[in-house]
Amino acid sequence: MRGSGEHRGPHHQHGSTDALEVALTDDVLIVHGGTPLEGRIRVRGAKNLVSKAMVAALLGDSPSRLFDVPKIRDVEVVRGLLGLHGVKVSDGEEDGELVFDPANVESASTDQINVHAGSSRIPILFCGPLLHRLGHAFIPDLGGCHIGPRPIDFHLQALREFGATVDKRPEGLHLSAPNGLRGTKFALPYPSVGATEQVLLTAVMAEGVTELRNAAVEPEIIDLICVLQKMGAIIKVHTDRVIEIQGVPKLHGYTHRPIPDRIEAASWAAAALATRGHVEVLGAQQADMMTFLNIFRSVGGEYEVTDLRPPRHGDPGQEGGIRFWHPGGELKSVALETDVHPGFMTDWQQPLVVALTQARGLSIVHETVYEQRLGYTEALNSMGANIQVYRDCLGGTPCRFGRRNFKHSAVIAGPSKLHAADLVIPDLRAGFSHLIAALAAEGTSRVYGVDLINRGYEDFEAKLADLGAHVERP
Ligand code: EPU
Repeated sequence: MRGSGEHRGPHHQHGSTDALEVALTDDVLIVHGGTPLEGRIRVRGAKNLVSKAMVAALLGDSPSRLFDVPKIRDVEVVRGLLGLHGVKVSDGEEDGELVFDPANVESASTDQINVHAGSSRIPILFCGPLLHRLGHAFIPDLGGCHIGPRPIDFHLQALREFGATVDKRPEGLHLSAPNGLRGTKFALPYPSVGATEQVLLTAVMAEGVTELRNAAVEPEIIDLICVLQKMGAIIKVHTDRVIEIQGVPKLHGYTHRPIPDRIEAASWAAAALATRGHVEVLGAQQADMMTFLNIFRSVGGEYEVTDLRPPRHGDPGQEGGIRFWHPGGELKSVALETDVHPGFMTDWQQPLVVALTQARGLSIVHETVYEQRLGYTEALNSMGANIQVYRDCLGGTPCRFGRRNFKHSAVIAGPSKLHAADLVIPDLRAGFSHLIAALAAEGTSRVYGVDLINRGYEDFEAKLADLGAHVERP
């Protein structure tokens, strides 16, 4: 981030070269802020389900069909990796439909796979399916947002429990399972989304029964379980975060329409609130967003759930969604804590914090999922916000970061008048919060590195235009 008054170029923060400076200069959005967002947009299948359902297609012995796939970078990365492993991926008849034919799954060279190094975290989920299909796997260096160390120790520990050998080399991970994979009993030290998915994608075809304790149960995970069940898997979700998987020797293809993206929906809701606007998010689903909706209402935002009405007798019907708006007057401060499902999602906090800068009083956000997910608040402060970050666990129960010296609690004092600034996007969700701040601020901001937002928000520039935002490319 650089404040509007500073003359430090983006290259100083990233410690890189003129080439990056040029790239960032090209990749900039000019945002004329101060106009409420008004209108209607639609969200498609959840990024954090779609990419995993694509990996699951590798396990089938017949083609799979996935609908409502957003055109985002993570999907392109997984599509590329599937293609390298012999899965034929083609566009279906419907817009957003992808068809996967895994008839000829084959090995790819490390050089080919490494083209995707550093581009996404999804490649780690190829382990189980590739071990089942080929007996070996190579996983490149992972990418994803820099929001903490993001280790993969739970993944590797679980894979070893299944009987895989893991060889960490400088170019990436080499895995093999010469004797096949066998079901196991495993308890996660923390309910990690990715590690739960790793276990699911491996256990469904491992020999025998797997019992996973302290599993994550996010709606995207339940939807992945639905996908795997459609393929022929036997998976029981017990109370207390215990998942039991009975391995089967064979799975077939699936046809699936994913749950909508609740992170994107909440991001647009927060944008409506921060800009004092009114945005209808078609596709948004109340059941997956209950915790967000409670906080949205506590802050003073209004929403209305519009249920799906099928067309009949001349009535064209209506697509379901949620309308979010700022009802006027002042917003109220809140205390919230991010947590695993059914708690307040960590990916919801960055967009909402921009709206909290407009709330009267002191709001508290305690981030308990990632240890370094509040760095973006510096950029908001450079725009006039008043946010302090602390190492203590504020406003809630002590979390595992409390005694480990991470600034993971934020106190937001408001309301603050936001003014324009030049910003560099640090990661996906923080990037969207920068964008919202620029839209809410008075004046013209330059948001650099905006292409990062395409990793997780389909057509966000077109959606901004639909909502009446005044943005332009230089
Ligand atoms: N963790 C470990 N070891 C592991 C795995 C995780 O210590 O082996 C820790 C992480 O460091 C973190 C916590 O466990 O502190 C939770 O991480 P988790 O594994 O649940 O996250 P993830 O699977 O890497 C997914 C989403 C994230 C989302 C989190 C939490 C995808 C591709 N990513 O990440 O989404 O924030 O779950 O809900 O599904 C995003 O979409 O921008 C994004 C970051």
